[in-house]
Amino acid sequence: MTAAPAGDRSLRSLPGPCARPLAALRAGIVVALLAVGGCSADKPPAGPASSARAPAPQFAPGSAGIGDPYFPTYGNGGYDVASYDLKLRYDPTSGKLGGTATIQATATQDLSRLNFDFAHLTASAVTVDGRQAQAKQDGNELVVTPEHGVVRDRPFTVVVRYGGKPAPLTNNELGVGGWMRTKDGGFALGEPESASTWYPVNDHPSDKATMTLAMTVPDGLEALGNGVPGPRHTAAGWTTWTWVEAAPMASYLSTVVIGQFQIKTSTHQGKPMITAIPDSLPADGPAAQAMARTGEIADFLATHFGPYPLDAYGGVVLDDNRVGYALETQTRPVYGSVFFRTAPNPIVVAHELAHQWFGDSVALERWRDIWLNEGFATYAEWLWLEHEGRQTVQQSFERQYAGFDWHEPPGNPGADDLFGVAVYQRGAMTLYALRKAIGDPAFAALLKSWPAEHRNGNVTTADFIAAAEKASGKDLDKLFQVWLFGTTRPPHP
Ligand code: TRP
Ligand code: ZN
Repeated sequence: MTAAPAGDRSLRSLPGPCARPLAALRAGIVVALLAVGGCSADKPPAGPASSARAPAPQFAPGSAGIGDPYFPTYGNGGYDVASYDLKLRYDPTSGKLGGTATIQATATQDLSRLNFDFAHLTASAVTVDGRQAQAKQDGNELVVTPEHGVVRDRPFTVVVRYGGKPAPLTNNELGVGGWMRTKDGGFALGEPESASTWYPVNDHPSDKATMTLAMTVPDGLEALGNGVPGPRHTAAGWTTWTWVEAAPMASYLSTVVIGQFQIKTSTHQGKPMITAIPDSLPADGPAAQAMARTGEIADFLATHFGPYPLDAYGGVVLDDNRVGYALETQTRPVYGSVFFRTAPNPIVVAHELAHQWFGDSVALERWRDIWLNEGFATYAEWLWLEHEGRQTVQQSFERQYAGFDWHEPPGNPGADDLFGVAVYQRGAMTLYALRKAIGDPAFAALLKSWPAEHRNGNVTTADFIAAAEKASGKDLDKLFQVWLFGTTRPPHP
């Protein structure tokens, strides 16, 4: 899904597989009508003048990567996904996952074939607009060749039936990402990639899409996902849990968690709030206490960042010693229990909830700009510490500034240092330096206008610099150059 300016949504709002882009209709491209199949009966008359003007489709394979300079194999070219509809079943006894993924997308070129990222699992049948397509698996790519090419700007639907034993991606310098099996269930989690271990996906944040998940698990287990809970059905010893994330979501922000949990459901600010604590942890212990503060902490952040941008609230705690981190999975961050061993550490909650504005609603266009996620989430920690009366934002800044190693530029950290200390702390210091340069009123306005203007969108560092210059009326190139890209200590702001 591409964030298009309002008024430019005509192509994506056309319903059904027989819908055609207006441009193709006007040009009367007969090939376009035949290409997807089943829709030729209503083709408009092709006038001699229009057929002379119409360029013939130039079918070519979509590329096997979306073009991210840090991760050339991530994502795929030639199409833009609008939605993933997953109907899956997981059997914890065998560790097997299977079902169907229905993917609605629009071609961004004339496609002779297209790829999905898909790791360890096996596709048994693939259709494109209801017709059997050829599917080949090559490493972590699923290569789909439809019977006919898919014409540019045309919506199409791919259904993949698949199954197997999911496993994490280990070819990742940044650690393990993806599906992890537990003794009674499993979960999928990881940044910058994880989704391809449980469904076929255009696995890059620049192609956001909505998601509907129906996950069937044995009775007695819980299955948590992103967004708003849907109906639950039980039949023959299995229960299907459904979750709908209606806001566009970057694929690494999708998650599913299966196990034995105590789930709390409530309404916060008129939206569903779902938190979950594993049964292995005390129901009123520090992890539960931290989750209980989710609404309060989100409301505090909203005073700085503007209205909460998503359709649901929540959080899931995982009691698994392989999870020594937290991740801002959309609407429902996942927290390793390590954060809540002795106290209900609200700082990590503030960090992950800040990502719902910065990282999730406003997502990256390319991984290089990761400081736009982590720098803001770290700055949010500083705001929280000040709110709690523990230390001011200025004190947080000074503690980092004194003795910092300035060698790594947060604006271009390199793929292997995507989550290095510079991205988090110097990213936050950059925001503090900006605040000093443009003054508190302009900075406060920017912290709200940025997530409002780019809600559900994708951004780059250049977009943020432009927004800061607009909010302040100042030329800020030098400041950002020094703070994001320099390798020596910037002057004290
Ligand atoms: N984005 C996470 C955070 O700062 C950190 C993170 C990076 C992470 N890579 C990860 C978490 C992989 C889980 C898995 O909140
Ligand atoms: Zn973070």
